[in-house]
Amino acid sequence: MSKLHIVSLPGDGIGPEVTTAAMHVLGAVAKRFGHELTVEEHLVGWCAYEKTGTPLPDATLEACRRGPAVFLGAVGDPRAEGLLPGKRPEAALLKLRSELGCFANLRPARVDEELVDMSALKREIASGCDMVIVRELTGGLYYGTPRFKEADRAVNTLVYTRAEVERVAKVAFELARSRRKKLTSVDKANVLEVSQLWHAVVDDVAKSYPDVAVDHMYADRAAMELVTAPKRFDVILTENLFGDILSDEASAMCGSLGLLASASVGGKVGLYEPVHGSAPDIAGKGIANPIAAIRSAALMLGYSFGLHAEAVAVERGVSKALADGLRTADVAGGGPRVSTREFANAVAEAVTK
Ligand code: IPM
Ligand code: MN
Repeated sequence: MSKLHIVSLPGDGIGPEVTTAAMHVLGAVAKRFGHELTVEEHLVGWCAYEKTGTPLPDATLEACRRGPAVFLGAVGDPRAEGLLPGKRPEAALLKLRSELGCFANLRPARVDEELVDMSALKREIASGCDMVIVRELTGGLYYGTPRFKEADRAVNTLVYTRAEVERVAKVAFELARSRRKKLTSVDKANVLEVSQLWHAVVDDVAKSYPDVAVDHMYADRAAMELVTAPKRFDVILTENLFGDILSDEASAMCGSLGLLASASVGGKVGLYEPVHGSAPDIAGKGIANPIAAIRSAALMLGYSFGLHAEAVAVERGVSKALADGLRTADVAGGGPRVSTREFANAVAEAVTK
């Protein structure tokens, strides 16, 4: 028996709904495998700003630092539009990632055979795709200084150090080693000095992984290949902003933004969040797709608690619910649809059996 202590940050919009779904599935896992699950909930994002005047209250950050695992639903609200960048809900997320030292963000993008017709790509291009985007998460343009905005000029700064590239590259190479042993490093080395360093460091790290085949690709070409020949990718390693963009593109390949999970690792505490945002347009309706959140919980079981059989059971539960024809609105096409809760119940039930 393990003790599973989770810090849960439901956040804004559909965040609370998909978090409830994921926690429900984790409850079923605990029951089936005999673990003791405790969930400690805290405020983050717009809801935290409304109640406390800051999107990341100290109590939240302290609880996250204690860990060992943090689950985050989503942050963001249209009412935050006029706020200064530091007060915006997104600022909480960026601070959390960097305070927890979660420098490697793993975003698996696998096309579910049951959903292949929902892909934005032709069936024969999408079918069988299975990749993981490893996005550097605590550096690059998101964090570089100086950064400021004047009336007619604004500045952001792109910086990476050798050490920052090295540590995320190692995570990506290890992952590639456990998969099909192919790593594509995405940069823009034809234009950016930072990318030239990135390329060189990846080549250095590659020397320790002779069993992994490496290639380098410019970001624009990678964006194109993702929709024309996505099967060529196994592990994609890239910097923060390119990884943000390419992972949304990969979700279109999978069929919905509601499908992609993520694990942010590297520090003492793991941070797990669906790749999608707070989707205010559908918030509170009970129709959001909980798959990304549920799969993020599965990643948490594996990465933070070493419970691999449990993680597989959750993944199987999702596949079973899909095979049984259950579809939330985003992946239903014209067909019948179930609610967030109904989908989560089905996964929980499959896990318990
Ligand atoms: C993501 C999101 C965030 C990011 C936003 C909400 C700050 O788009 O996790 O992909 O850009 O990293
Ligand atoms: Mn994004």
